[in-house]
Amino acid sequence: MRIDIITVVPELLASPLNESILKRAQESGHAEIYVHNLRDYTDDKRRTVDDYPFGGEAGMVMKIEPVYRCIEKLKSERDYDEIIFTSPDGITYNQHEANRLSLMKNIIILCGHYKGIDYRIREHLITREISIGDYVLTGGELAACVIADSVVRIIPGAIGDEASALTDCFQDNLLAPPVYTRPAEFNGWKVPDVLLSGNFAEIEKWQDNEAYMRTKLLRPDLLNE
Ligand code: ADE
Repeated sequence: MRIDIITVVPELLASPLNESILKRAQESGHAEIYVHNLRDYTDDKRRTVDDYPFGGEAGMVMKIEPVYRCIEKLKSERDYDEIIFTSPDGITYNQHEANRLSLMKNIIILCGHYKGIDYRIREHLITREISIGDYVLTGGELAACVIADSVVRIIPGAIGDEASALTDCFQDNLLAPPVYTRPAEFNGWKVPDVLLSGNFAEIEKWQDNEAYMRTKLLRPDLLNE
């Protein structure tokens, strides 16, 4: 899978995209992630990417031309399955959306910034608008990292232990069951006996029940989806 991220602050993306699973997924060829600096697509000396809004509201607006040039260049090189814009007024991101995106070949993520973006970009170029929650970030870069991270980790083969991604929280609309590791007792706090029993049918039954009970207690909304 290839992800092209367009931003006015590429520095913000460097570390989250180049550590841990995302780093390994790129090294093993499961994912390619490219960051494009929007200022490279300007044509003035000051590399201007924003301007005052028509109508006189407070705040600056991302200009059309650099975004258009960058997206058109990428589109001339390959087909894209989705061109995403990160914005607090997009659809709320969740595991279903991550699963859906992980099946795609090429996606673009355009990071919103400033007060907003010239709306014509959203009308004519963007195919999906995504929010990562009902709060406002200083820009869409962190949202782009959240999307890239959650998508890349579920590309088959990207995590060494593939079964692990399938038992994540939210797969099957359930929270994950509790997990434990050695020692079996610490400070008098014991690991549930069933996990030490070696009876895998019983262990699975216990895990399914715990997942259901935790979901019912903590996120009952998931059970109604
Ligand atoms: N940009 C600013 N806030 C955002 C949010 N909550 N989700 C996605 N992009 C954003």
